[in-house]
Amino acid sequence: MQGGMKLSERSGTLAGDPFRGRRPTSHERLTGLPWDASYQDGPAPWDIGHPQPAIVRLASEGGFAGAVLDAGCGTGENTLHIASLGLSVLGVDVAETALAIAREKAAERGTEVEFAAADAFQLKRLGRMFQTVLDSGLFHTFEGDERTRYVASLASVTEHDGTLYLLCFSDDGPDTGPHPIRQEELRAAFNPSSGWNVAAIEPDRIQTRYHDDGGAPAWFATIKRI
Ligand SMILES: C[S@@+](CC[C@H](N)C(=O)[O-])C[C@H]1O[C@@H](n2cnc3c(N)ncnc32)[C@H](O)[C@@H]1O
Repeated sequence: MQGGMKLSERSGTLAGDPFRGRRPTSHERLTGLPWDASYQDGPAPWDIGHPQPAIVRLASEGGFAGAVLDAGCGTGENTLHIASLGLSVLGVDVAETALAIAREKAAERGTEVEFAAADAFQLKRLGRMFQTVLDSGLFHTFEGDERTRYVASLASVTEHDGTLYLLCFSDDGPDTGPHPIRQEELRAAFNPSSGWNVAAIEPDRIQTRYHDDGGAPAWFATIKRI
C-alpha cells in the first residue's frame, strides 16, 4: 500500500468502494490503484485511440462470428471496430470511466454496440453466451490463481466450439511490455482440462503509447472452446 492510505481513500470513489465489492486484482494491488484510476487523467499507456492492428487484421479475415464478447474492453476501440462491421458485440470492463468514454465514442460515431460493467472473473453473471471472445491485453495482467479463475469464467460464457482470441505481451524479443507472457504459460492456462484447446500461438505486436509504431512483442493466440 502506498502512502499509508487505503486503496479506497486514494481513489476517492463510488460510495467509498472503488472495487464495488470485488477483490482487487494482483495488478491493482501492485499499483495501489483501481483500474479505473488509469482512465481518470488522460489516456492510459495502452489507450492508443484506434483498434490494435492485430484485431483489425483478424476482423478483415472474418475472424469474428456470432455474438462477440470483448473482455476488458477499456475505452472500446477494438469493440467499436468489430461492431462497425455489423457484428453484435458486448464490451465489458471494471473501469466505469473507460466505459463512459467508450459509450461517448459509440454515440459520436453512431455505432451500435453495448458496453457493461462486469468482472472478468464473474462473466457467468452476464447470463449470456458468446461464439467469439476477444481478450486484448487482459490475460497478461493476471497472475497465479487469477488465471485459473479467469479461464473458467471465460469457459462459462463461450459456446461449445467457440473461439477465444487472445493478444498479450510476449517474452519474445527486446522492448517487451510490462507483463511478458511465455507461450508455455498460455498452454498451461488453456488446455483440455480447463475446457480449451490452443489452436495456434503466433508472434504479433501490441501498439502502446510508449512504444514506437512497431509496438511491443506479443502473442496472438487462437483458442477453441471444447
Ligand atoms: C491493458 S487494458 C486493455 C484494454 C483494451 N482491451 C485494449 O486493448 O486497449 C486491460 C483492461 O482490462 C480491464 N480489467 C482489468 N481487470 C478486469 C476484471 N477483473 N474484469 C474486467 N475488466 C478488467 C482494465 O480496466 C483495463 O481496461
